[in-house]
Amino acid sequence: MSKVKLKKYGLKDIIYFTNKPKEREKRIQQTSSVKTTATFKVNEKAAERHPDEQRFVIDRVVDHGKGVKTYTLKKKDGTNPAFFRAGQYVVIRQEIDGKLIARPVSISSGPADTLDGWMDVTVKEVANGFLSKYIIENWKEGDEVRTSGPQGLFYYEGFRDEKHVVACSGGSGITPILSMAKAIASGDEDFRLTVLYGSRTRDDILFAEDFAAVMEATDKVQLINVLSEEEADGCEKGFITADLIRKYAGEGPFSLFASGPQAMYNFLDAEADKLALDFKHYRKEIFGSIKEPWTLPGYPAEAKDKVFTLTVKMCGDEYVIPCNANENMLVALERAGIAGPNRCRGGVCGWCRSLLIEGNVFIPELTDGRRGADKKYGYIHPCATFALSDAVIEVPNRK
Ligand code: FES
Repeated sequence: MSKVKLKKYGLKDIIYFTNKPKEREKRIQQTSSVKTTATFKVNEKAAERHPDEQRFVIDRVVDHGKGVKTYTLKKKDGTNPAFFRAGQYVVIRQEIDGKLIARPVSISSGPADTLDGWMDVTVKEVANGFLSKYIIENWKEGDEVRTSGPQGLFYYEGFRDEKHVVACSGGSGITPILSMAKAIASGDEDFRLTVLYGSRTRDDILFAEDFAAVMEATDKVQLINVLSEEEADGCEKGFITADLIRKYAGEGPFSLFASGPQAMYNFLDAEADKLALDFKHYRKEIFGSIKEPWTLPGYPAEAKDKVFTLTVKMCGDEYVIPCNANENMLVALERAGIAGPNRCRGGVCGWCRSLLIEGNVFIPELTDGRRGADKKYGYIHPCATFALSDAVIEVPNRK
């Protein structure tokens, strides 16, 4: 076996690195302070791939029943939607009664479909869900709608994830997993995907035909339906337990992906513990904000029905608003008509990152996506933070 010899840093390297900052400073001084009007291909390409906003026309609506609909979107200007990583989402921006409401929704088509000029998003109407109810009741073919570019970190990453992924999913949480399955079938992703899909009954299963088409196209995807309330041929009966995961994971290493409702995570976390998976091997998609925080460990029961005063400093203005202890601070801002920055609404992306100047708060572990330094210096994500006293926060000026 040939040995690779690493050179030690020599005098020349030391001189090179010592002079670098001086050289950079000299070039900065020589640069004009007038803003350049030149355009560069690389910037145009970056804007194409990571657009801040996409304007669509609804081309088709598929009603899956039980409050779930899929919308096929085509760009209004005839260009292709931005390419995305299977598992990502877009943020819908919808004006309702003069207020701009934004919510993340999963992309349920495969990335390759963008090259044919379309993209699917699937929306499920959630109880008390303001925007989801509006979309399900109002969106129709021909309507113009706006979304962000693709967002989110819940996708397969070959440098990090094992070549075999076991995906546990429930209800409409199947959408990012379906997108991954389609990406495998089209050759955009290369890994083995075993899907354990939990539903109550056979009638509740979504996208059965889409999965059948994927499994016809590739043997790298396997779907196992797990029914909690019904015995059915070819389906497992019960819940997605550690034993069931072991049974279908087989021999060899695997990554566990989870995508479903909050209640599923409460159950699945305990099962994942039994599998002794480390942080890297157990990844979860969080669909929006935590509901019913009082059901989570660490939430003080006596706070649940209290209303506190939240002082919000934003763009040089100061607002004093009510904040229910059982709703996150971002919702309090929106109820008061303050457009706080937001994207994932699940504590992960950091777009709403704000400074907690004063007050006690509850931050659920499940959606605490803050960096270590942010925790240390008192930053919070209002979309995943609940007031436990009067509080003062400073919110950044982001769209
Ligand atoms: S909107 Fe993503 S962390 Fe708050």
